[in-house]
Amino acid sequence: MSNNLIVLAIETSCDETTISIIRYADNSLEILSNEISSQVALHAKFGGVVPNLAAREHVKNISWIFEQALKKAALGMKEIDLIAVTNGPGLIPALLVGVNFAKTLAYIWDKPLSGIHHIEGHIYANFIENKISGISNNQLPISKKIPRSQNSKKNSKKDFSSLIENSLNIKFPILCLVVSGGHTQLVFMKNHLNYEIIGQTLDDAVGEAFDKVARILNIGYPGGPAIAKQAANFQFSIHNLQSNPASKIKDSKINLGFEIRNSKFGIKFPRPMLNKPGYNFSFSGLKTAVLYETKKNSGLLKNKKYLVEVCHEFQQACIDVLVSKTIKAAKQYKSKTIMLAGGVSANQELRKQLGEAVSSQLPMTNYLLPLTELTGDNAAMIAAAAVFRWQKMNSSQKKKTFAKWQDLQTDANLKLK
Ligand code: KG4
Ligand code: ZN
Repeated sequence: MSNNLIVLAIETSCDETTISIIRYADNSLEILSNEISSQVALHAKFGGVVPNLAAREHVKNISWIFEQALKKAALGMKEIDLIAVTNGPGLIPALLVGVNFAKTLAYIWDKPLSGIHHIEGHIYANFIENKISGISNNQLPISKKIPRSQNSKKNSKKDFSSLIENSLNIKFPILCLVVSGGHTQLVFMKNHLNYEIIGQTLDDAVGEAFDKVARILNIGYPGGPAIAKQAANFQFSIHNLQSNPASKIKDSKINLGFEIRNSKFGIKFPRPMLNKPGYNFSFSGLKTAVLYETKKNSGLLKNKKYLVEVCHEFQQACIDVLVSKTIKAAKQYKSKTIMLAGGVSANQELRKQLGEAVSSQLPMTNYLLPLTELTGDNAAMIAAAAVFRWQKMNSSQKKKTFAKWQDLQTDANLKLK
């Protein structure tokens, strides 16, 4: 079994054209290059991604992104062992550009080609140690430190999957909260590449809800970062109970001597499905609640404090439901590791509050986050997933499962399995 593998991966499922080269060696995954051309500015004026426009941009950008990825990694055709590409789910016109580019490369270079599920990529972003950025584990918002293996050389003959797992202190079973523009799922993993979806959204994905609410509030696209930025300005105001004892908090168990008042406008949004059994989510009603609130008070939308409070309360409603269901599921399924994945996992409050809930309610459970720069769509995560898929197979499985370039298909609704 090879202990050294170099993968070139391509991702064009939505509005980012991205190509990455990563190396698996010495017990870790190292990013050699991860080039991304984002079309966010182009789609912003439409308030969402326009599939044919996205495809046209991918065609325009993919060749120079490819050249840049090779140049930055200082590698050429000879050194690449495997080509990987996102083949679904996503926008078909956009996916086709990446898949056809990958097929052409596999044909010309005579390399194996691996089709990777986009969400599998997001999940495996958690397994990448990014040496380029210089960000260390110490800078994770919740410092569950991830010890590096002390004796990677000594262990180098063991199965590589368990080596990576050990080096990151990742223990199975894992519960991964996947939160992106298209998905909101709780994925239970008994082992690598083994997925059971134990809950998912019944309507909008949480990222989609952020985007739609930002459109209602007219604060820009993509909505997630725009709402998070406004919500960060929310200020809790502390009121002294001595000066106004009548304002005691009714259900407070401990009399702190002060009251934390966090609402100037009294905005309260629902926490959909919070107390429903099971692990499904729903965010479309929450989005409608924001619409009604802002229609009722349209005159206040120019008031900065009002906007900040709407954003904060909406974000907190999402986080409350996501955190509560994740903790509940982790307890029932006895998960040893909780991970976050997908574009919404860039949300600092979600990262922080889920981490706090894990520390207080499941102190023996590991908590793992992807590096912030790997939360959005990128090809490094696709390459990481491909390394695991490749290495888990024996040579006949490799031949059977890894598509010859002719066989690989795109699938807008590809299932995670
Ligand atoms: O994973 P991703 O880049 O694309 C998909 O696979 O869908 O996720 C994009 C989603 C968008 O809905 C965007 O608004 C959201 O991730 N997002 C955020 C944040 N950054 C991006 N949502 C909340 N807070 C953020 N900081
Ligand atoms: Zn994504």
